[in-house]
Amino acid sequence: MKIAVFSTKSYDQEYFEKYNTEYDFSFFETSLDASTASLANGFQVVCVFVNDTVDKETIEILSESGVELIALRCAGYNNVNLEAATQHNIKVVRVPAYSPEAVAEHAIALILTLNRKTHKAYNRVREGNFSLKNLIGFNIHGKKVGVIGTGQIGATFIQTIKGFGCDIIAFDIHENQELIDLGVQYLPLEDVFAQADILSLHCPLNQHTKHIINKEAISKMKKGVMIINTSRGALINTADIIDGLISEKVGYLGIDVYEQEENLFFQDLSESIIQDEYILRLMSFPNVLITSHQAYFTKEAMREITLTTLENINAFQQHLELKNEVK
Ligand code: NAI
Repeated sequence: MKIAVFSTKSYDQEYFEKYNTEYDFSFFETSLDASTASLANGFQVVCVFVNDTVDKETIEILSESGVELIALRCAGYNNVNLEAATQHNIKVVRVPAYSPEAVAEHAIALILTLNRKTHKAYNRVREGNFSLKNLIGFNIHGKKVGVIGTGQIGATFIQTIKGFGCDIIAFDIHENQELIDLGVQYLPLEDVFAQADILSLHCPLNQHTKHIINKEAISKMKKGVMIINTSRGALINTADIIDGLISEKVGYLGIDVYEQEENLFFQDLSESIIQDEYILRLMSFPNVLITSHQAYFTKEAMREITLTTLENINAFQQHLELKNEVK
């Protein structure tokens, strides 16, 4: 079986080469979209990541090229037009949970860094500047943490940050009894917005959650709120969050994902002229911390992603039940 891997980085290739013993993998650095889909000609499987654009047009080309399976090497599938895939009889599989801990721990890293400014302290000390001016933080202990989306990552985030002695409030369309038993209080979304000192987003991106953080939502929040997004960029309306930062309503913003990240993230643009005005504005704030979709990036998660992707492909080839199919 021939597999075309799109958006390949050296580490993706390294892990597939380490664990694959059976399949014929070809690695393409380019991302998948309608303009590159013809590269999949003659392949039965395409393996894609978060910023590949698997829309209707791309799927039509994949179908004509003989592709039968789209294997996502990630959990989110908002970038795939599932209806078009079904119409063309192309199955879609994903890696539903490779390491909720990896993402939850990164969300906490963003919170701690933004709060205690260790990134700035590191640079200061290296330059012989031992001053503490403007490095003041706050105790996480006793703060109210609002969590939107309490699935695998949200639940892991809650269990981990609870160790700091925080009160946890949450909103999800499905409540998790185990979390309620742990002391989590589910509230309507507006109340989570109104009460949280720190707000962490862990819901998927879909038509109901797109721009869940917008002007109106921000207006309901506490002044100085910290907002953390390790889920998907378009959960936040970028223009509105910039206004919230300018007005100082939003006190801190930590993002691992960004609405227009596909043109920026995972690439070294240090010698390029970046054209995206929004990211440049975000980068200019002292209280904004941006990482480029690295929350998942641990050794454990990479191993799990690779093994689950290989299992998904194997199940497809053997005509077994596709337990990680997305419908
Ligand atoms: P999950 O499916 O286990 O949990 C998602 C939760 O969101 C569920 O409890 C669901 O009921 C809830 N939800 C759905 N619609 C909602 C709404 N309208 N309002 C509030 N809650 C809603 O997913 P998991 O594994 O926890 O992942 C969450 C998201 O994290 C993924 O969709 C993905 O976008 C993102 N992610 C980011 C990574 C990164 O490296 N930055 C890596 C992996 C996932």
